[in-house]
Amino acid sequence: MKVLSIEWISESAEGMMPGFIRMIDQTRLPEELAYLNTTDIEIVWEAIKMLRVRGAPAIGIAAAMGVAAALQGSEASGERLLAEAEKHADYLATSRPTAVNLFQALERMKSVARASASLPPAAFKERLVREAVAIRDEDAAMCRAIGEHGLKLIRDGQTVLTHCNAGALAVSEYGSALAPIYAAQAHGMRVRVFADETRPLLQGARLTAWELMQAGIDVTLICDNTAAVVMKEGKIDMVMVGSDRIAANGDAANKIGTYGVARLARAHGIPVYFLAPTTTIDMSLPSGDCIPIEERSAEEVTCGFGRRTAPEGVKVYAPAFDVTPAEYITAIVTEKGAAYPPFGETLREWMK
Ligand code: MRU
Repeated sequence: MKVLSIEWISESAEGMMPGFIRMIDQTRLPEELAYLNTTDIEIVWEAIKMLRVRGAPAIGIAAAMGVAAALQGSEASGERLLAEAEKHADYLATSRPTAVNLFQALERMKSVARASASLPPAAFKERLVREAVAIRDEDAAMCRAIGEHGLKLIRDGQTVLTHCNAGALAVSEYGSALAPIYAAQAHGMRVRVFADETRPLLQGARLTAWELMQAGIDVTLICDNTAAVVMKEGKIDMVMVGSDRIAANGDAANKIGTYGVARLARAHGIPVYFLAPTTTIDMSLPSGDCIPIEERSAEEVTCGFGRRTAPEGVKVYAPAFDVTPAEYITAIVTEKGAAYPPFGETLREWMK
């Protein structure tokens, strides 16, 4: 089964309107594969905020489609229509702070809107839908290329440890960190995956384990605190993770816990690969210290999935991401290839 996290659906013969966004509601996995269909910008905002759609590239795509979907019902034209597009983009930019793909996609939508302001309203709206779909399609192509570049790092029979979910669910299709695994499978290789469950929202358990099992890939779920032991036992050949934002020096933000995994891997002599499309690279930030880190609500830690697991009123610190310093990263793999330390020069070259 092909997992498509987010799509634009239109049955129009002439263009892409009228249409709507269809996304997998990832909060319902693994119990059920349920879809959320919408054109409502507030529903899109809530879906991003509550991780119904999640993963850096997927939230960028959702936001771009959210802007286009919301404009469909507008009566405005010209400058007023442009102002609406900008307002929708600014609103969706408030949903989550860390993944730069969100802001990158919204800036792209705004700049296409500005360049198309003189079009008649129907053509303007169609243009924005097409841009949002192009962002999705380009991401799919980038993920395929990441898979091919990442494949060069894996040998038949090896085992990869991953954290969070950087698979098909987190992008348009295929995945970033999981793309080489899918590529290996397509080449007839046997590759095994150890998936950290990824407290507190369990993206590894609920999503990575689910999508790899759907694909028939050998996956073993471990508690986050088991990572050190499986490394010590010699079960892990490499770590492959995605990223939400990579700074100009190669420091990379990813799901909370990734930094610890990277340091454990270094202690055990295991290579650590960050795989992401170049839409995740933010050259405006000199280092990871500047990456804004989202803090999530205490309830996700104390009362996750509806069951209280800590006393009411306890103090909680819940950053959703951490930054792995470039010195703990063996290579950064994008659709353009693999970069090795020091990363600055290659990242600059890629992002010219
Ligand atoms: O909070 P989430 O589930 O959106 O966090 C996602 C991650 O940290 C992923 O590893 C990252 O976005 C890379 S997805 C290709």
